[in-house]
Amino acid sequence: MKKVITFIAGALLLAACTPKAQVEPYELISAEAFDTTLNGQAVTLFTMVNKNGMAAQVTNYGARLVSLWVPARDGSFKDVVWGYESIADYLDPGTDVYSGPVVGRYGNRINKGRFTLDGKEYQLTINDGENHLHGGSGGFWSKVWQGRSVINADSSESVVLTYQSPDGEEGYPGNLSITVTYTLTNENQLVIGYEATTDAPTVINPTSHSYFNLHGTTAQSTNSHVLQINAGSFTPTDAGLIPTGEIASVEGTPLDFRQPTPIGERIEADFEPMKLAKGYDHNWVLDKTGSAFSEAAVVYEPATGIVMTVTTDQPGMQFYSGNFMDGKDTGKRGDKHNFRTGVAFETQNFPDAPNHPNFPNPVLRPGETYMQTCIYAFGTK
Ligand code: GLA
Repeated sequence: MKKVITFIAGALLLAACTPKAQVEPYELISAEAFDTTLNGQAVTLFTMVNKNGMAAQVTNYGARLVSLWVPARDGSFKDVVWGYESIADYLDPGTDVYSGPVVGRYGNRINKGRFTLDGKEYQLTINDGENHLHGGSGGFWSKVWQGRSVINADSSESVVLTYQSPDGEEGYPGNLSITVTYTLTNENQLVIGYEATTDAPTVINPTSHSYFNLHGTTAQSTNSHVLQINAGSFTPTDAGLIPTGEIASVEGTPLDFRQPTPIGERIEADFEPMKLAKGYDHNWVLDKTGSAFSEAAVVYEPATGIVMTVTTDQPGMQFYSGNFMDGKDTGKRGDKHNFRTGVAFETQNFPDAPNHPNFPNPVLRPGETYMQTCIYAFGTK
């Protein structure tokens, strides 16, 4: 089913600009592999390529990033996100549903799926032990969005995806209308913009849930990535990874990534919050005031030279080090999804914020527009 498209144009362009660079053409997933209908709605795979030859593929099934080809130090391109080769693979119950989608309405966990808004209690679906995770078992990641391609005035390309989430879906109040826009800029940035409105008060915290591996293959662990997180504190949790409400300093702990440190260096540390999460799976409270746009993290893989910078207007970022990965499923190019071979950087409001008045406000009301921008920018060193 998979039809291989060799990306020759970009390779030729690069070869012309840098005659000595080693240029490897790369293989994009064919749109045909996603050509199906789910619940009466057409599924599509969109491909964006920028003038440097970087490419991003996005499907409207779950508003999901499928491939992200970025240049490495040696001039070759690496696909730095997990994904699968066809829509059939994404629908296979054995695959990781959180591979690349937008999760929500509320990303991460809500304690026992319960919260009170304007004096009324709501019960969300439970899909993670006794808690609600990533919008529930029928969250945004499982929906077919409406999608279209756009060529911007500066010649960059975008994919615009919209979804109407009905009142009561997964237990959330209000008809919510959400638009997610992926833009691949000519500066090698993948920009993810979110906008949402509602007809009744609700809570919202959508985020992008890609697993990155800057080696470009899961044959190598992400423990070698050197990570910097611009955060002086985090939100400790209970054993179910629900925040206690405390905001604790990272000072003197293995969660202090203010200086660039290999992920694997302290991942087995004898530190209670890491024992609970079986590694890194925490919300960092980013150093910023209000909704300022700031650099949340810088990730560098010495072997490929790829540097990824995460910039966001959100107050928090979940860094998840792949502690639940077990190698049972296989992604693109036969990549086994082994233990700690993918890392997620989910820009977000704090988990369980609807139950913690001291956390940033997660409520969206009629007449307001929810907005979020996250940028994954790529370079080499
Ligand atoms: C997030 C959560 C993790 C895990 C992954 C998906 O990163 O914080 O605990 O649920 O999503 O596997």
